Amino acid sequence: MVDKALGTGGRKSEKDLKIRVKSAKGRKVSSTKWLERQLNDPYVAKARAAGYRSRAAFKIKEMDEKHHLFRKGMRVVDLGAAPGGWSQVAAAATGSTDANPLIVGIDYLEMDPIPGVILLRKDFTDDDAPAQLIAAMGGKKADIVMSDMAWPTTGHRPTDHLRIVQLIEIAAAFALDVLTPGGVFVAKVFQGGTEHELLHMLKRHFKTTFHAKPPSSRADSAEAYLIAKGFKGTNDTEPGEGEYDR
Ligand SMILES: C[S@@+](CC[C@H](N)C(=O)[O-])C[C@H]1O[C@@H](n2cnc3c(N)ncnc32)[C@H](O)[C@@H]1O
Repeated sequence: MVDKALGTGGRKSEKDLKIRVKSAKGRKVSSTKWLERQLNDPYVAKARAAGYRSRAAFKIKEMDEKHHLFRKGMRVVDLGAAPGGWSQVAAAATGSTDANPLIVGIDYLEMDPIPGVILLRKDFTDDDAPAQLIAAMGGKKADIVMSDMAWPTTGHRPTDHLRIVQLIEIAAAFALDVLTPGGVFVAKVFQGGTEHELLHMLKRHFKTTFHAKPPSSRADSAEAYLIAKGFKGTNDTEPGEGEYDR
């Protein structure tokens, strides 16, 4: 099923060393291509070696290295956490432990436990999800709200686009509600998206707002990340305001 294709004469060039996956009866061409890409992706191997649950872990790690997102003792909310790579990176960077958990993750998919991380199995767009996340944080505010969420695509581009923008807007509204002054919001967006209103809103509430495309984010993917740093705080008395410890 899996071939290490060799060139003529037995000399292995980098191109020749690419692992090729033969199509199999019953497997879709797209699945074969996905498998081939996984097997040839250096980040997949790196993730396995480092004990990360996903190659996505490197995206937040690279963004942290470049933009200095995490510090010890920070509280972090991870939206769309499964299988858990971002939470693993956040737990290590903040020094979160089971005795003093600083990370709360949410996903509608089931996840294996992660040391130092409180996990909620829930759809973030459910009405009671924000309250449950705040309760899981012990009523405390967060220093970082990060979202790697994306709905599964329907194949209908305008619909997919609207759904993605809506998801980011809900995540941003949640961030404004729970972030501590100086806090950070990180969210997956898709290039070419019309998130102008969202950007405008974030620029009012954060000192700096910019896009990032970490090296581990595939070049052929429209995926990018929006980073907003230096939350200015809100003056509005929205539900939940005043209920936090800091
Ligand atoms: C790209 S994956 C996240 C990978 C993760 N950052 C990691 O490092 O392992 C996106 C996740 O978002 C989750 N997701 C999408 N929409 C969601 C929603 N409305 N509520 C909760 N989770 C959601 C998906 O189930 C999926 O697990």
